[in-house]
Amino acid sequence: MASPSPLAAPFEIGGVQIPNRVVLAPMAGLTTSAYRSHLREHGAGLVTTEMVSAHGLLHVNQRTGRYLDFLDEERPIAVQLFGETAEVMARAAEAVMSLSQLPDLLDINMGCPVRKVVRTGAGAALMADLDRAEAIVAATVAVAATAGIPVTVKIRSCPPGGGDVSELARRLEAIGVRGIAVHPRTAAQLYRGRADHTVTATVVRAVKIPVIASGDIASVAGALGVLEETGAAAVMVARGAQGNPWLVDGLLAGEERARPGLYEVVSDLRALLARATLEMGAVRAARWARKLLGWYLRRSGVPGAVVDDLRRLPDVPSLDRALAGLAGPLKREPPD
Ligand SMILES: Cc1cc2nc3c(=O)[nH]c(=O)nc-3n(C[C@H](O)[C@H](O)[C@H](O)COP(=O)(O)O)c2cc1C
Repeated sequence: MASPSPLAAPFEIGGVQIPNRVVLAPMAGLTTSAYRSHLREHGAGLVTTEMVSAHGLLHVNQRTGRYLDFLDEERPIAVQLFGETAEVMARAAEAVMSLSQLPDLLDINMGCPVRKVVRTGAGAALMADLDRAEAIVAATVAVAATAGIPVTVKIRSCPPGGGDVSELARRLEAIGVRGIAVHPRTAAQLYRGRADHTVTATVVRAVKIPVIASGDIASVAGALGVLEETGAAAVMVARGAQGNPWLVDGLLAGEERARPGLYEVVSDLRALLARATLEMGAVRAARWARKLLGWYLRRSGVPGAVVDDLRRLPDVPSLDRALAGLAGPLKREPPD
């Protein structure tokens, strides 16, 4: 029997109970309601929406509004907003707080490195302008407080010469932020290079609120190492769980798990596709799942040409039939 994983212990963010210390990262294009519920079923203690544009919400862009929909089974859930001025963010937070279904947490994106976002002064651009960042966060915190919703912030490493991450963290805590997620790469690094969790440790030392470590969480030993090295309250899984939701099960069990056989991998993928179909319809779900097909199947040794053929199928029913055929000849491996 493995000893209980420290990641399986509950914690709290601003009074919200989080059942364990494995958090699903926000990922634009991926963390839809279907993906979040699926990872929640694998055990993730907290899930986050894709980043939602404050402007998009205010212009009652129906597509943006849909990003706020979630199922009760996903709770606890954070909605992540991005925007570039205090006024826009406060008004967007008001829109969120007036929904009939409130999220458990409101998260502010201060890490997005995409040019389209940074150019407007939002996302990672805020890390270079602490006063504006503080004004935006303070305005959002004030609005969220009216509904009793704690605010968290997700940051990156400061660019070289671009300031001190401890000062930013302390200022965020002082204005009422209740948790900070740290992805310790600079915006210029995008997603390349190793995450430098000494930065996460610096943030942990600077504040008393829970800090969540994001970046290169891809194995049980690695995650436990980051937890110990940084003193963070929790870890955040992102690319490490793409096509490998069993990473979450393993983190909670505290032991590396062998990847399941193809039969189980395909069954899991089909279950995810069924959820996606309910959320977005059979045609959009098939398009949404194209990257997932590669992540799930290539990792299980399915040849690239087979995956390419699957990607060309127009909807989930045809995809599901092909997947059933792929796994059909295989029997579930008997237990030892
Ligand atoms: C495809 C993709 C989309 C992402 N979208 C967001 C986002 O919307 N908001 C955010 O705060 N971070 C976003 N991130 C960053 C992740 O949340 C995470 O911090 C980052 O991937 C580092 O973790 P990893 O090295 O384990 O992948 C995204 C990352 C990826 C790969």
